[in-house]
Amino acid sequence: MLLNKKILLCVTGGIAVYKAVALVSKLSQAGAEVKVIMTESAQQFVTPLTFQAMSRNDVFVDTFDEKDSRVIAHIDLADWADLVVVAPATANVIGKLANGIADDMVTTTLLATTAEVWIAPAMNVHMYENKAVIRNMTTLHEDGYQFIEPSEGFLACGYIGKGRLEEPEKIVELIAQRFTSSKNLPLSGKKVVITAGPTRERIDPVRYVSNFSSGKMGYAMAEAAAALGAETILISGPVGLDKPVGMTVIDVESAAEMLEAVRTHFDDADIVVKSAAVADYRPKDIHPEKMKKQAGDSVIELERTTDILRTMGGMKTHQILVGFAAETNNAVGYGMGKLESKNLDYVIVNDVTDPAGGFGSDTNVVTLLSKRGTHQPFQAMAKTALAKVLFEAIIQEESEQLNDR
Ligand code: PMT
Repeated sequence: MLLNKKILLCVTGGIAVYKAVALVSKLSQAGAEVKVIMTESAQQFVTPLTFQAMSRNDVFVDTFDEKDSRVIAHIDLADWADLVVVAPATANVIGKLANGIADDMVTTTLLATTAEVWIAPAMNVHMYENKAVIRNMTTLHEDGYQFIEPSEGFLACGYIGKGRLEEPEKIVELIAQRFTSSKNLPLSGKKVVITAGPTRERIDPVRYVSNFSSGKMGYAMAEAAAALGAETILISGPVGLDKPVGMTVIDVESAAEMLEAVRTHFDDADIVVKSAAVADYRPKDIHPEKMKKQAGDSVIELERTTDILRTMGGMKTHQILVGFAAETNNAVGYGMGKLESKNLDYVIVNDVTDPAGGFGSDTNVVTLLSKRGTHQPFQAMAKTALAKVLFEAIIQEESEQLNDR
């Protein structure tokens, strides 16, 4: 799976270091060449010798311990790697990286590399939720670093919660997917922009107007696009889902922010899929302070948000534009109306009253309508499976246009 891929593993000091040993073993078994750098704290848990034996390579622990006089080790390792993985990543290394601090072999190499860097945090649940740690992770997200989210469960500190290093098998699977996607897959070299989740339109600092979208459909579309080889941009409203790796995730809150993010990525996109449930209306005035209860009823005046899809329909040149339509009756009829009025290439219609589909569920039932007049109904299936078949159907119908680009 990973034959000849060069993976640089940066191991920092947490109890999950033992899992990093298994990770090296599994990466090597998958054919990767693995080199390991350890922080001083990581060596408190496992010795470099263990990683040396597992990787069959020297282990680097000290910036000034130059093993080969012909090269400077941290630059050489930084240039050598196809992918750098920090696992486990402590709050400390996350903080240093977010602030550009390079005071040991791991952090100097991380700053020196131009390879993709994946960060797999592992720490106590309260540390993971600490505002400073969240701030640092947000900075790193914005700087283009990818995260392998920790899983939930029993933590070594005795707490139950989020903070366990993702299992080595899963990390290897994600790395394998990452390298497969650069091969000759149907969407290799294509840029796909996906929107997902709801938008929130603020009323005051503690209240908002929104809807029940969980983001599951949009995230499944994004993961399918990435698995088919696309450079994937996921623009996500506020959802409770883990951030997928292998793509750029842009968090937005309101319809206005989503419009801005879609606009930024629209010009060079090949396919744009709008799975998000964007609010059609927002409060006309956002109250700067919490609105106080009054005797009797209250009225909030709403104004229309910009229809992002319609705006993109008016701007499109070569982009294949795919909308969703969430309907409660006459789904196909209304879907066809949206296909035409918003100048779309496809609309994926879901009757959100169907118990097997719609908002929040793991499954969906949809019909794919195209501007050429084709109707393709799909039976109820998991959103993850559905996303894949929807993309396959679109790729098949658009093979000429996609090949021409
Ligand atoms: O997130 P899940 O819980 O998995 O649920 C999935 C889903 C039901 C949200 C998804 O399958 C879906 O149907 N998404 C579109 C929901 C929606 O807003 O439909 P609509 O018919 O109101 O809008 C039609 C299209 O216009 C959509 O592509 C929407 O993104 C877009 N739109 C709408 C309003 C607006 N201001 N800007 C837009 O771009």
